[in-house]
Amino acid sequence: MTLRAAAETTGRRIGVAVAYEPLVREPAYARLIQAEFNAVTPENALKWAPVQPRPELVQDQHWQVIFDAASQGRQSVRGHTLLWDQQLPAWAVALSDAELMVAQQQHLERLVSATAGRVRTWDVVNEALEDDGTVSKTALWRVDGDRHLRDAFVKTKALDPAAVLAYNDYGIEARNPKSDGLLRLLTAWRAAGVPVEAVGLQSHLKVGEGPRPAELAANMRRFAALGLEVHLTEIDVQVRHLAGSAWGAEAAQARLLYGWTAACVAEPACRELSFWGLSDRHTWVDGTLGDDRPLLFNDDLQPKLGYYAVRAALLGQPDPTCAIERLPAPKVGAHAGWRSSGGPLQVGPKGGAAAAMVVAGRTEAWQGPVHSVLSSLTAGLPLRAGVRVRLNAGPPAPVALTLRIVDGLGERYVSVASGRATADGWLRLEGPLRVALQGELRTADLYVEGPAAGRELWIDAPSLRVDCEASP
Ligand code: G3I
Repeated sequence: MTLRAAAETTGRRIGVAVAYEPLVREPAYARLIQAEFNAVTPENALKWAPVQPRPELVQDQHWQVIFDAASQGRQSVRGHTLLWDQQLPAWAVALSDAELMVAQQQHLERLVSATAGRVRTWDVVNEALEDDGTVSKTALWRVDGDRHLRDAFVKTKALDPAAVLAYNDYGIEARNPKSDGLLRLLTAWRAAGVPVEAVGLQSHLKVGEGPRPAELAANMRRFAALGLEVHLTEIDVQVRHLAGSAWGAEAAQARLLYGWTAACVAEPACRELSFWGLSDRHTWVDGTLGDDRPLLFNDDLQPKLGYYAVRAALLGQPDPTCAIERLPAPKVGAHAGWRSSGGPLQVGPKGGAAAAMVVAGRTEAWQGPVHSVLSSLTAGLPLRAGVRVRLNAGPPAPVALTLRIVDGLGERYVSVASGRATADGWLRLEGPLRVALQGELRTADLYVEGPAAGRELWIDAPSLRVDCEASP
């Protein structure tokens, strides 16, 4: 099932920011956009600078191509954006404040008239607040506070009554001085009859930092209480800062995307969620913040873990990231990366298990089966590991599941689980892999240690999974 089919089961729009160049040059890009999304946002083609690079030169071709493709794909269009103090054409920036206000209104009137009837939602005003929640004092808005902003909504509604009119911003996903300021502003505008009908929470996220899904849910409720639609308009999740494995970073990203999408699905006023680019090859983050992998599809346009997580959340299903088994079970004759610290590793039937492991000839208590977890361990991703153990004979003995780490901080050992194994049956050892990583992670070995040298310790049913119960 595609994302758009999953979204449509909940009556929501799932969108993507579309760039003109790949849309016309990469057929695979165009096909995937159409197949997976029921809404599109021109990433740049509707902004003032590209549309009117000179006072006398209007360039509508690029957004018209995007609109036409959206029509063919039965996709709604989000207009982005009418008033923004970035991407102004150079000639407009050179104007006086008064001249700029006039030019801006003329630009808005022309563009809204030219697109009337084809835009489902307009980001009428984009990013007009400071972090403290006050209206910004940059060129475009410093004239008479928010009057210029309010007028833009009134004029847009008059020119395109069918369009839903939104205020769009970043850093307002959770409760903070900026979103508090916005709530006050929109409350005042709604009371004054300004036709602001939706709020866009951009959702440029970063694993391990910034708002959690529960904070988003509480904040969405505040705007919904004003009677506003809530849209998650520019979702991407930065992971490049995470120490550890690429897979783990992708899994941590998927967990956040699952929570973010589930929060939207749980909020009746949340009508749209949109991703700020199709793939890791088409993200603004690379050129602005540094090479990253923030989106749902990889450089080869293949779905990542986050794609399956978002789809599951849209369908009200559990996050499939939680069911991924990262530790392979050995087979007789195929050890699947399991090795031994000590004597030879043997795999064979034991106590009902078809392929249990044993390290023969143990001469030290710490000797036992070992498997690297380097390809799964990542900062910001809670993991749980487990095995079941049993002795071959003799009295019960202490056993432990231990993680050996070598990173920027040097070598250290982390106890994952411990217990007392017996020869009568299997004991399950399971616990969290909680380790703060620092610098380059060179070694991460999970191993089973335990009874005194000379005793045989059998291991079975190894497991390493994302700990989806851990508090995010
Ligand atoms: O198209 C011109 C090209 O002709 C010229 O040679 C080149 C030289 O710099 O610039 C090209 O325009 C660039 C444009 O993207 C298209 O690629 C602009 O320089 C560049 O500033 C612009 O960046 C966009 C940015 O907004 C500013 O408009 C990003 O692609 C876009 O992802 C980003 O999106 C914003 C949202 O609109 C608002 N929320 C934040 C989000 C991320 O910054």
